Amino acid sequence: MAAQQASATVGLIGLAVMGKNLALNIADHGFDIAVYNRTTAVMQEFMAENPSTPGKLVGCSTLEEFIAAIKKPRVIIILVKAGPAIDAVVEQLVAAGLDKNDIVIDAGNSLWTDTIRREKQYADRLKFFGSGVSGGELGARFGPSLMPGGDPASWQHLKPIWEAIAAKVDAKTGKPLAGAEPGHPITGGVPCTSYIGPNGAGHYVKMVHNGIEYVDMQLIGEAYDLLRRLVGMEPQELSDIFTQWNAGDLDSYLIEITADILRQRDPVKPRKYLVDSILDAAGQKGTGKWTAANALDMGIPANSIAEAVFARCMSALKDERVIAAKKLSGPKPPARKAGKARKDLIEAVRQALYCSKICAYAQGFELMREAQKEYQWQLDFGSIAGIWRGGCIIRARFLQKITDAYTRNKGLVNLMLDPYFNKQLRAGQKPWRRVVSLAAENGLPSPAFMSALAYYDGYRTAVLPANLLQAQRDYFGAHTYERVDQPRGKFFHVDWPLPNRPQLDV
Ligand code: 6PG
Repeated sequence: MAAQQASATVGLIGLAVMGKNLALNIADHGFDIAVYNRTTAVMQEFMAENPSTPGKLVGCSTLEEFIAAIKKPRVIIILVKAGPAIDAVVEQLVAAGLDKNDIVIDAGNSLWTDTIRREKQYADRLKFFGSGVSGGELGARFGPSLMPGGDPASWQHLKPIWEAIAAKVDAKTGKPLAGAEPGHPITGGVPCTSYIGPNGAGHYVKMVHNGIEYVDMQLIGEAYDLLRRLVGMEPQELSDIFTQWNAGDLDSYLIEITADILRQRDPVKPRKYLVDSILDAAGQKGTGKWTAANALDMGIPANSIAEAVFARCMSALKDERVIAAKKLSGPKPPARKAGKARKDLIEAVRQALYCSKICAYAQGFELMREAQKEYQWQLDFGSIAGIWRGGCIIRARFLQKITDAYTRNKGLVNLMLDPYFNKQLRAGQKPWRRVVSLAAENGLPSPAFMSALAYYDGYRTAVLPANLLQAQRDYFGAHTYERVDQPRGKFFHVDWPLPNRPQLDV
């Protein structure tokens, strides 16, 4: 139906999977929404597929029509591929007659520095706003986790929509509320969204979410691999174990879907499990890499996040690995475990997974703590963990514990220092060390488990061998060092004896 007058509360551009589902979610909550897609046929098909929704869908064939259909100040959500397409759409909107007070929300996985740049670049033409959206297709349809960042005044216009469509958690337990259906959204509960901060803060927090998502997935992959190769378990048994784990501390969306995945038969070869027919070469779109690169830029140890990205890179070297598997030696495959040994090892892997997960989140929150200094944001970590309790890919019972930790202590320096997490690490570290040792002894790659343990041990070590490293730097490059018996910031240099080379004047 063509728009005749400005009747829609909100507009959405980009009717690919995420855009379609978000538009339907918005309409389910009673908001009239104008929709536009570059290829008009996609919009027409979408309109034909959804003839009646609680809020009206207003299909628009041109951007002029789209703009005319939305009430002022216009709230326009763009869901197109992150990168130059965002700028192209914004320029087209401006050309089509957008107003200075209109708010354009980039709801894709954009790089936060692009969002900062865009807010400034378009400031005299529109109000550019960024929001992280997590939860994939189903999240977008029935309740995503939303991480909005930008001008606080713009947030006030978006807030009623974002709070309505976000996932909801129970106010007391923090558990996600389920049961939404087309036309019947969940009402009540605490929405998984709240204002994150100005300019790129929302997209930054979404990026860290994805960095953590990479580790969560890698840790689950390593647990699966260790249970398979160290214990000798088959996919169906593994599915049962993940189902059991999902009833405890590890209760999370990713563990839940892993249990489902492991019991899935191959539709082409039904006697096989599908997981065994899937090629072991992981893809990635870049958000994990951005997180790791940002950690390097800021000098924050986010070992596990970086390792999770590198593990995907390693997996992608499939052809090289196949050749190397025949040439590079390693230990023989371990014997299948049974009885108590089997039970103990499964439990040890569970504990290793939980402890490593704590480290991954500690790294993610350290990153956000550093970034807020750099960008003068004031991030509320308890609230961020709260937003992640429902709707997003990393949603987990665990997130309530993080919310609790930051509620106890807003200024918590590192999550591992919170009494609850400290206790968990204390309790789980023996089996965690055992799993890492067994992985090393048996030649099973477990970079996320291992790097998380290295992070834990590095962080709890008061004296690291960096004294020697500083001496080496001073020796070969006169880079100076600080002394343990002098105030920080005072630098020293010594004329090192150079036994095998002529003495230099320094
Ligand atoms: C989410 C996800 C999503 C991400 C995909 C793919 O929160 O809904 O993080 O935003 O794009 O999971 O990411 P990779 O291709 O990098 O694995």
